[in-house]
Amino acid sequence: MEKISNTWNANLYDSKHSFVSMYGESLIELLAPKKGERILDLGCGTGDLAKQLSDYGSEITGVDQSEKMIEQARRKYPEIKFIVQDATKLTFHREFDAVFSNAALHWIKQPMQTLTCIYNSLKQGGRFVAEFGGKGNVKAISDAVIYQIEEEGFTFNMDLFPWFFSSIAEYSSLMEQAGFRVTLAQHFDRPTPLDGEGAIKNWIEMFGSSMLAVVPDNKKADIIAKVENNLKEVLYRDGKWIGDYKRIRVIGFKEK
Ligand code: BEZ
Repeated sequence: MEKISNTWNANLYDSKHSFVSMYGESLIELLAPKKGERILDLGCGTGDLAKQLSDYGSEITGVDQSEKMIEQARRKYPEIKFIVQDATKLTFHREFDAVFSNAALHWIKQPMQTLTCIYNSLKQGGRFVAEFGGKGNVKAISDAVIYQIEEEGFTFNMDLFPWFFSSIAEYSSLMEQAGFRVTLAQHFDRPTPLDGEGAIKNWIEMFGSSMLAVVPDNKKADIIAKVENNLKEVLYRDGKWIGDYKRIRVIGFKEK
C-alpha cells in the first residue's frame, strides 16, 4: 500500500474515482456515528468521508499513509485532523469509540498487524466497521493483466499483485485472533461503473501499475491496450465499463 498509494495523484483520484467515497456513504449508515464520538477514519484518502462523519458531530481523525492524499484532505477540510500514518504501525492506544475504514484495507498485505493496531486504537466497547475488496475482487481485470504480461513473455509473480482480497471466513478468523467479537461479515458483488472510454486504462494506471513493474516502459501502453480489448467482451455493456468489484463488510467489537 505504502509505495503505491504514495504515487497516487490525489487530483486524479478526486476527479475520476469519486465513486470510492460515494459507495462509502452506506457504510456510514452502518457505523451510525454519534455526536461527540471519537472516530478514526483509516485510509481516509482525500477526506470526503471524514467530512461526512464530522457532520454527524463526531470528532474525526483521518489517517492515510499517502502524504499527497493527506495534503489534499487538509486543503479541502482544514477543520478536520488528518495524520500520515501506516495502518500496520498505528500509534493510538484506547483512544477511539470507533474505527471506520472504506475501500482501503485491501491495500495492506499484512492484515493481522493492521487488525492488532485497530484493536489497540479502540476503547473498551469500541467498534470496527469496514468495507473493502473481498475474495475475487476485480478478478477479470487482474487476470487479464497477468495473462497479457505472460503472453508477452514476461514472468509475473504474486509479489507484484498489490492487494489482499480476503474471504469472510479468513477475515473473521483474523479478527477473532486480534481479539474482536465479530457481529457481521458479508461478501457481495458490487458491479462498479468506471467512467469514460479510457476507463480501463485509467484504472490500471491508477491502481494496478505495480503489476506491470516487470514490463519495460515502452511496452506498457501496448499491453494495456490489449488488456482493454480482451476485457471488452466481459466488462463493457451498453457503452459503459463495469468493474467486477466484490466487497466484504465487517463489524467487530472490542469487549474487554
Ligand atoms: C476496490 O475498491 O475494491 C479496489 C480499488 C482499486 C483497486 C483494487 C480494488
